[in-house]
Amino acid sequence: MQTKGPIGVFDSGYGGLTVLRDIVNRLPQYDYLYLGDNARAPYGNRSFETVYHYTLDCVKWFFSQGCSLVILACNTASAKALRTIQQKDLPQLAPGKRVLGVIRPTAEVIGKYSITGEVGVLATQGTVNSGSYLMETAKFFPELKVYQEACPMWVPLVENNEYKNDGADYFIRKNLDDIFEQGEKIDVLLLACTHYPLLREKIEEYMPIDVTLVSQGEIVAESLDDYLKRHPEIESACSREGKRSFYTTDSTSDFDNHARVFYGEDVQSNHVDLKV
Ligand code: DGL
Repeated sequence: MQTKGPIGVFDSGYGGLTVLRDIVNRLPQYDYLYLGDNARAPYGNRSFETVYHYTLDCVKWFFSQGCSLVILACNTASAKALRTIQQKDLPQLAPGKRVLGVIRPTAEVIGKYSITGEVGVLATQGTVNSGSYLMETAKFFPELKVYQEACPMWVPLVENNEYKNDGADYFIRKNLDDIFEQGEKIDVLLLACTHYPLLREKIEEYMPIDVTLVSQGEIVAESLDDYLKRHPEIESACSREGKRSFYTTDSTSDFDNHARVFYGEDVQSNHVDLKV
């Protein structure tokens, strides 16, 4: 008999909890195991090699916990590590298991939100440098003009609990001014970092009123729902007791305090030492 396990949800830190929230809302019946690699976050400015090695460590840990499906709920890891893990590591490590990211499902639908045909992608430096959004959106919406803006201060503002304070306004205005200078007709802004939904209020304050702000949680949740329907062999390996477990590679008390904000519910996390 096939052993069932939880669906793994991964982020460098807390951001993936915003995605997990939407996944759980849509698919509450499954068990979920969340891991934040907080001890090594942020990933945003790290090299391809480093992000790949860190992400692979975490994917191996999920597999050791019985997960058959892992979602990289982190754009940086999806941009810099996913392809190599899918193509090079999975066939050797665990050919029956799957690792999915957040960029492809977002790219599949983002063009539908735009009337002008111009979209702005706000992301970490790593995601921008990877060019992943440009490549992926071109596959589904070849006519779409995609402008990118790296917002390297936004994750630290969120991680340091400064995202509601006045200091955040400066960086948000600066990056928004920069992206609208690139593309005046942008009518969709994509929050292509799972930390950014926490900045939504301030972003809305400084963006033009007729622009649609899109975050990824619901898009990823809908895509996962669809994936599970199309892949019964993976779906049947996912346990369904409605359990959620949270792990961090750093302090559990810090994790629990942040998780309340990102996940919108109290959580009690466990510490894991990846011993790498
Ligand atoms: N939340 C991650 C993302 O979606 C980035 C955070 C980080 O820089 O580690 O890109």
